Amino acid sequence: MIFRQLFDSVSSTYSYLLASRRGGEALIIDPVLEKVDRYLQLVAELDLKLVKAVDTHIHADHITGLGALRDRTHCITVMGDNAKVDVVSMRVTEGDKLTIEGLALDVLYTPGHTDDSYSFLTRDRVFTGDTLLIRGTGRTDFQNGSARAQYESLFGKLLKLPEDTLVFPAHDYKGDTVSTIGEEKRCNPRLQVKSVDEYVDLMSKLKLANPKMMDVAVPANMRQGLAQDEIARKGWAVTPAQALALVGKPDVALIDLRERAEREKHGVIPASLHAPYPDLQENIRPGGMLHELATATTKRIVFYCAFGERSAMAVQAAQDAGIISACHIHGGLDAWRKANGPLAR
Ligand SMILES: [Fe+2]
Repeated sequence: MIFRQLFDSVSSTYSYLLASRRGGEALIIDPVLEKVDRYLQLVAELDLKLVKAVDTHIHADHITGLGALRDRTHCITVMGDNAKVDVVSMRVTEGDKLTIEGLALDVLYTPGHTDDSYSFLTRDRVFTGDTLLIRGTGRTDFQNGSARAQYESLFGKLLKLPEDTLVFPAHDYKGDTVSTIGEEKRCNPRLQVKSVDEYVDLMSKLKLANPKMMDVAVPANMRQGLAQDEIARKGWAVTPAQALALVGKPDVALIDLRERAEREKHGVIPASLHAPYPDLQENIRPGGMLHELATATTKRIVFYCAFGERSAMAVQAAQDAGIISACHIHGGLDAWRKANGPLAR
């Protein structure tokens, strides 16, 4: 596995680049906006293709690099179900697997620091965000934090992992880079409590100042969505209501860009075809499946995904590749469902 721990010294944030092989797909966890150039340079140097960018929670101390990475690489932005951000390309929840080529991360819902905190577990290591830090735990006094929920996330989930599991947090302020579950169980002063009440009491007495960037970072991080309005302005979007009228029409091909697991979990628009987003470039170039479908027939290509973000990027790419009929469902399956559009399983 290719694994890099990257550091932003301004916010003391760790970001993690993962890939299964040189030349393969890569994923980044908790990227920082100011470091995006550095990440992309490293991705190029290691001959990787960045396909997913993930945040463990809405950060209060730095602006996320998710939006910038998406705009520059067309990668898929991922956050947990509970993150109240305007739009991400893909949402995951407890029990889901976050996958790239050759690598799968188990998604753990670990609220407490915030109510949208998730951890990601793969093989011998866990990325704990701000839930479990090295010799510390994330504060629980803002962003719907809860010491009680955090206690459950720690003692009910993370500390139950094998003792030699490596712990990679989202921050460290002392210069530590990695720990293990066993080491934290023994040496983390916050974890030497005998009950949830004792933990709640301990956390209530911390009296920390708010992060310097909080008033800037939180609102900025809640607005990382791709401007789907831009695509709509160009006439390349249909509303869910308009899309409803297109289902079953012989001159329309509805194309689902989501992953197989998302289709199984959330259902599909009846009679739609599956052409996963990672294969898009291959499918839209001359000779590709979607290119041929659009040029050999009079079919209009209507992309959709979970929230409209992947499909908006796909429309732009397809138009650039000469598929002038390409459009997408604004707001994706989420909007479709809200408009009572039918779903097949
Ligand atoms: Fe945080």
